[in-house]
Amino acid sequence: MNCPIDRTKEYVREFFKGEYSGHDYYHTVRVFELARKIAEEEGADIEIVSLAALLHDVDDAKISPDTYAGKVNAVSFLKKEHVSDEDIDKIVEIIEQVSFCGVDSAVPSTIEGKCVQDADRLDALGAIGIARTFAYGGNHNRDIYDPDVLPELGMNKEEYRNHVSTSLNHFYEKLFLLKDMMNTDTAMKIAARREEYMRAYVDEFLREWNSEDC
Ligand code: NI
Repeated sequence: MNCPIDRTKEYVREFFKGEYSGHDYYHTVRVFELARKIAEEEGADIEIVSLAALLHDVDDAKISPDTYAGKVNAVSFLKKEHVSDEDIDKIVEIIEQVSFCGVDSAVPSTIEGKCVQDADRLDALGAIGIARTFAYGGNHNRDIYDPDVLPELGMNKEEYRNHVSTSLNHFYEKLFLLKDMMNTDTAMKIAARREEYMRAYVDEFLREWNSEDC
């Protein structure tokens, strides 16, 4: 495959300039690094995993709704790089299946897709996951927390996309569900540690909110 990773990174760096919703260039870089580590453990095709990880958010429904359906940004970039149609199909399928959609979330059909989906979900967890949650919330005018707004569980794709909630509810509505949705044992282990950290954080957040720590 004639598509240097460096050129894809450059494309993505340019693409995400001015993006402050937690889906920035360095989110992509972390997903790329994690996905490659998982791919090595799982014996997946590193090149396909690398390109899919780097391009996984350039046609995201929230970031680029106009190109979402046809994965137009990813496809036109890969075509320009002379990636074969067969490989483009594999990469597009991975990107198609990567997103969290509540109870409608897809289980990727290939091991490469599983590595990328796990890596993307791992970056929603832990210390960085907490930072990204509040960055996204601020970017979308959401409250940090509102005790009168309860988390909604069991949402489908449509409900999840249209749902407006608080940043703290996001932990219950998505983040605490991710560990058990991991596809690979490698990711599951990392997710367990990151989730423990987040649960301790949310406990402390609520203790302080309710003045129970003084
Ligand atoms: Ni992502």
